[in-house]
Amino acid sequence: MATPSTAPPTTAGATLTYDGKSVSLPLVAGSEAEAAIDIQSLRAKTGLITLDPGYGNTGACRSAITFIDGEKGILRYRGYPIEELAEKSTFLEVAWLLLYGELPKRADLTEFASEVTRHTLLHENFKRFFEALPKDAHPMPVCAAAVGALATFYQEPETDQNLHDTVVRLMAKMPTIAAYSYKHSIGQPFMYPNNKLDYASNFLHMMFAIPAEDYVVDPVLARAVDLLLILHADHEQNCSTSTVRMVGSSRANLFASISAGISALWGPLHGGANQQVIEMLERIEAEGGDAQAFVDRAKDKKDNSRLMGFGHRVYKNYDPRATILKKSCMEVLGKLGVRNRLLEIAMKLEEIALKDDYFISHKLYPNVDFYSGIIYQALGIPVNGFTVMFTIGRLPGWIAQWLEARSDPDFRISRPRQIYTGATKRAYVPIASRG
Ligand code: ACO
Repeated sequence: MATPSTAPPTTAGATLTYDGKSVSLPLVAGSEAEAAIDIQSLRAKTGLITLDPGYGNTGACRSAITFIDGEKGILRYRGYPIEELAEKSTFLEVAWLLLYGELPKRADLTEFASEVTRHTLLHENFKRFFEALPKDAHPMPVCAAAVGALATFYQEPETDQNLHDTVVRLMAKMPTIAAYSYKHSIGQPFMYPNNKLDYASNFLHMMFAIPAEDYVVDPVLARAVDLLLILHADHEQNCSTSTVRMVGSSRANLFASISAGISALWGPLHGGANQQVIEMLERIEAEGGDAQAFVDRAKDKKDNSRLMGFGHRVYKNYDPRATILKKSCMEVLGKLGVRNRLLEIAMKLEEIALKDDYFISHKLYPNVDFYSGIIYQALGIPVNGFTVMFTIGRLPGWIAQWLEARSDPDFRISRPRQIYTGATKRAYVPIASRG
């Protein structure tokens, strides 16, 4: 189903000298000439392991899906620049590209869109699942639990056809789950999907329509949703994707692996940052709108504040998705005729930070989350639902990475090692003698 990961030939080696011995380790080059030292034989040859907290220097796999050059601010899915996909493509087309490696032919896309459209319904018992949860439940754990629970409805053995059905079901049901978790939280009836609508329009319909009234989807808003989903669709080996791969490496099923990815995405340093950005902007506004004072706090090591939506493990330049979103943000708000105070504060923060020595020297630029929250707010998405939008977008990337891992000739269970720093061997002390 997924394109197998390419394994370019290994090239000349690197030499490691340790304890008076020299060992040669092969170098590996990717298709964009990124080089790595292949350390698979390191422990066998030397007894050493590597230590790399946060994995900043560790390539965990070969992958043919997404290329990022963080220094230059480049992002490409399957070789196609994000800017072109954002302008010319649709989310379902991008999902197909990520999953199958090529842009779909018209017939492929029609078939895929039709399959996804026909699998959006949730089992009626699922309504009771939502009803069992507190009204103020954060939608991210609701989505994680719901996707995990899907596995209980589809327990067939993992054949190619069943796996394909699982991919379609996940793509189809994720927006329904997201919308139902929102409807439950505000006490409105669940809206069934409408098969006449495209993916983004159907999501808006399930979120904002009510049975008592007609709801016409605004095409400007539907396009904004589709664009946001495209921009979030994959981002190589980030925290949640690595989680999906790691859980999948135990041969856990796709529902379970995606559920774990959703949990990883929830964290404020990852997908939860878009919620943190809007809360930060609201706090600055409530305190009088002094952007400079907040930037000063973000630089102060004694203060815990960070400029949320700034900085990235990989991008040491402007995140290309932030550039697209800033433009889209202004377009959407312009078309809706909304003057947005938070957008003004965000632009002021950006202007100050980009001229500030601290942010320049630390190579901290706006990331995808800096402007996305403002668009989500304009769309009417509740703040705690921002990361759910990220989840719907990231889903095809997670699935593509999970499938790629499964077909990788190097597939093994993920099992890092550690440097143990605890107590050395000591004798058990009976409880009566512990003082
Ligand atoms: N504001 C102020 N200082 C920052 C920020 C920030 N947003 N981000 C990093 N720094 C500083 C750190 O204090 C540290 O400074 P020091 O070296 O002087 O001690 C230095 O930059 C490096 O920061 P780390 O946290 O070590 O960088 P790391 O690569 O581990 O973290 C991260 C990247 C988590 C994204 C970080 O930049 C951050 O917390 N940003 C804010 C949260 C955010 O926007 N997350 C969304 C990321 S994009 C995504 O997941 C979709």
